Amino acid sequence: MEEAWVSSVWERLLSKIDGMKNELQHKSPHTTVNGVYDDMRLDWWTSGFWPGILWIVYDMTKDESYREAAWGWDERIEQCFVKPSNLHHDVGFQFLPTAVIKYKLTNDEDGCRRGLAAANFLAGRFNPAGKFLRAWNQEMRGWSIIDSMMNLSILFWAAEQTGDPRFRHIATAHADTVLRCFARGDGTVCHIASFDPETGAFIEALGGQGYAPDSAWSRGQAWALYGLANAYRYTGEQRYLRAAQLVAHYFLAALPEDGVPPWDFRVPAAETEPKDTSAAACAASGMLEIAASLPEQEACLYRNGAVRMLRALADGYATWDEPEQQGILRGGTGNKPAGQNVNVSLIYGDYFFTEAIAKLKGWENRIF
Ligand code: GLY
Repeated sequence: MEEAWVSSVWERLLSKIDGMKNELQHKSPHTTVNGVYDDMRLDWWTSGFWPGILWIVYDMTKDESYREAAWGWDERIEQCFVKPSNLHHDVGFQFLPTAVIKYKLTNDEDGCRRGLAAANFLAGRFNPAGKFLRAWNQEMRGWSIIDSMMNLSILFWAAEQTGDPRFRHIATAHADTVLRCFARGDGTVCHIASFDPETGAFIEALGGQGYAPDSAWSRGQAWALYGLANAYRYTGEQRYLRAAQLVAHYFLAALPEDGVPPWDFRVPAAETEPKDTSAAACAASGMLEIAASLPEQEACLYRNGAVRMLRALADGYATWDEPEQQGILRGGTGNKPAGQNVNVSLIYGDYFFTEAIAKLKGWENRIF
């Protein structure tokens, strides 16, 4: 039953992605406006997701047209290193689904070089006094954010690729700071932790893209559970898996009846607030990662939770028969407190939905 359902969703995904491939061409999609994807600047954190979709579909189908469409993206994004740009900690999001996966699938040496350059850039953002990765630029020298958990994979990959453990030391030091300063005993995490960049002392949690400092921004919970599961996969350290499970338990317990989270689980009157389908898609893919690390009798909780969310997305939010909608999932929320990109398609929602369905279909290479 599940297998037939997965295959039918995969087929519909392929037809949707084929349409995107024809229409998007060289555009770097981020969010839809009236159903049409924008063309975002390449230093924006989302520039890797569309090529990531293309690489996954290439890996699954071996159809050369996807490889050709994906091929040039790491070189294009690399230009942000040599021109004025606002690249920051999200180079993992940008170079894992482009340069690193390209190298893994095709052995392309330039892909490897670009992936390592991105890893070095991220490692250079480590604050040794506070043991955290600096997130953003400008004046935000002491701010670290939960999203960085997803960027750690490029450091773990670089450690394996070069044999240099410094990359892994930095990734685990940051992950341990997340356990200490972001994670709460109830299985939730804050979005931003602010530190004194001189002394490294933790100052306070901030609400960021969530409703409040002590709320539970749903995509932030997804970044945490998925990133922690990855940290376990790379290190074998049980504390990361246990923490990932705890966040997943909160996520599943807080999920409304319809299987798709509000943009923040703790916003007042959450049932009347916009959904965030990207949080559901990312959490589903992360829960499949948790499941893959556990024996079957423990794994099924996370696998069933993932399938529940993916079914809710496929049945209630996918734009299967709407060619005028370029995005795959509607109902994404980018940044509600800033009033940006609410109830739209988001390329990262489309990416993690595709990735999760590919995992259910047996895709074994990993981007994150
Ligand atoms: N990484 C930024 C976001 O999740 O919106």
